[in-house]
Amino acid sequence: MAVVGESGSGKSTLGRCISGLLPINSGAIIYNDVELASSYKKRSREQLKAVQMIYQMADTALNPRHCIGDIIGRPLKFYSDLNGPRLQARTHDILNAVGLEPGKFFSRRPEELSGGQKQRVGIARALAADPAVIICDEITSALDQLVAEGILRLIDDLKNTFGLSYLFITHDLTVVQSIADDVLVLKAGHIVEYGERNNVFAPPCDQYVMQLVNSMPQMNPDWLDDLVRCGSTQSQA
Ligand SMILES: Nc1ncnc2c1ncn2[C@@H]1O[C@H](COP(=O)(O)OP(=O)(O)OP(=O)(O)O)[C@@H](O)[C@H]1O
Ligand SMILES: [Mg+2]
Repeated sequence: MAVVGESGSGKSTLGRCISGLLPINSGAIIYNDVELASSYKKRSREQLKAVQMIYQMADTALNPRHCIGDIIGRPLKFYSDLNGPRLQARTHDILNAVGLEPGKFFSRRPEELSGGQKQRVGIARALAADPAVIICDEITSALDQLVAEGILRLIDDLKNTFGLSYLFITHDLTVVQSIADDVLVLKAGHIVEYGERNNVFAPPCDQYVMQLVNSMPQMNPDWLDDLVRCGSTQSQA
């Protein structure tokens, strides 16, 4: 599910509330029919394991003093109780899964990696918990287009391999177009639209949604044309 909306609409706040990093003023966070405590400190290990988060700035999200193997091994140990060679083997598996050769990257520190590689480590660290849901907050917006596309492909591949769901926070509707099944549109902290991707964007759509679409000159025109055709067919029907 993509979460979209203009800057300041509350996308990151929503992600941080779900992760238990920010207290909520009203409402409830319900996961598998169980209400989660507002603060992560009061959640069980199983609840913490279930929802992981990846951040926009991979630079500041990774501890510069730890090597990549430790950055992944620590949560792996905490959530799985693996130790010794089995812990190391699993760390290698996860590095391989995110496209980082273990022999080359295990002992390196974050400063020795490119932006895209750091973001792969961020993804690997989230995978180490074996979560059901990963909240991705603008994880490609600090990367150039080619590297960002690689990360999006990886995210898509991992979805099937690891049986993941994503809450994918982005202001970039071209990303929504390429990966999302469902979309939630936020404005000033409120949900404006929520539903299946093509329904949310199909005309006649909400005026605010239309503004978001119009602010994206690089949107694939074929896709929008298809939606317009689909919308006009629906209205004729
Ligand atoms: N810790 C906080 N305490 C109080 N207000 C906050 C806090 N963090 C964010 N805000 C405010 O909440 C609103 C939503 O901010 P948020 O960072 O969630 O927006 P966003 O949709 O993620 O924007 P962007 O696309 O720029 O990242 C803003 O008005 C912001 O100033
Ligand atoms: Mg944000």
